[in-house]
Amino acid sequence: MTTIAVTAALPGRAPAMLAEAGAIRAAPGAGRLSREELLALVEGVDVAVTMLSDRVDDELLDAAGPALRGVCNVAVGFDNVDLAACAGRGVLVTNTPGVLDDATADLAFALILAARRRLGEGERLIRSGRPWEWSMGFMVGHDLRGGRLGIVGLGGIGARVAARGRAFGMEIAYHGRRESPHAADLDATRLDLEDLLATSDVVSLHTPLTPETRHLIGTRELALMKPTATLVNTSRGAVVDEAALVAALRDGEIGTAGLDVFEHEPDIHPGLLALENAVLVPHIGSATVETRAAMAELAAANAVAIARGETPPTPVPLP
Ligand code: DGY
Repeated sequence: MTTIAVTAALPGRAPAMLAEAGAIRAAPGAGRLSREELLALVEGVDVAVTMLSDRVDDELLDAAGPALRGVCNVAVGFDNVDLAACAGRGVLVTNTPGVLDDATADLAFALILAARRRLGEGERLIRSGRPWEWSMGFMVGHDLRGGRLGIVGLGGIGARVAARGRAFGMEIAYHGRRESPHAADLDATRLDLEDLLATSDVVSLHTPLTPETRHLIGTRELALMKPTATLVNTSRGAVVDEAALVAALRDGEIGTAGLDVFEHEPDIHPGLLALENAVLVPHIGSATVETRAAMAELAAANAVAIARGETPPTPVPLP
């Protein structure tokens, strides 16, 4: 009998889908598993359904053993999975692309609006009970209309953020290693990273975390940005050098930031917490009832296919 480990409780139809394909070994509690619990859970299973917070490396693959045929990550990102280690053992890896594009784009755009119009700062002021009164210059932000939205990585999520930007009257530029198939529809201009950073009013990051993109945005890149610009990150925290970002926000090298992801989650650089010009939310880009169900169901469809010896719907290309 096929055994499928599931490292967190899944919403929607996913549990029923998995149960049809094998015996489920479920995480004991509702919270995140300790490393020891995770290694014990995967021991001897055929397929593991994993979360982005589970590190899938040689240690985990050793703990799982030779029966393991697939790792089905419930996330579009798979930087938590050592692809070479999986490939070396003939273990398939899958992710959940597409189904979270709109939810993540919505959140990125919420951060853009919050940062440009100082929503976090305003909310904190009201709740503090400190006195305030309307005046011409009080808590002014920046228009979106007429500004340039620079997208780093014009894939599924980046293109949806760009579409929202167009609806708000923004001009779209993007940076990517190759031409994006979405560019023509969005009337988006492809720029090198330096030009994009120097000319954009809002820069939104939508690149996967790889050795090449780790600290893609650091001191040098932040210095290129406009002093009024906003940096938004809903991809992975380590794409940005968080210490450099704190310095840039503090010293006025850039205007504001909207962050859903952090370099050392769940820890946050203490400097960020002290900054009024940073809007911070706890990795909730895909966190809607509908999207989380769709992600879980796609991961389950991948796991079921692997369990049955079929080609999974959304495999990650292995090195
Ligand atoms: C992903 O799927 O990679 C997202 O970060 C989840 O929110």
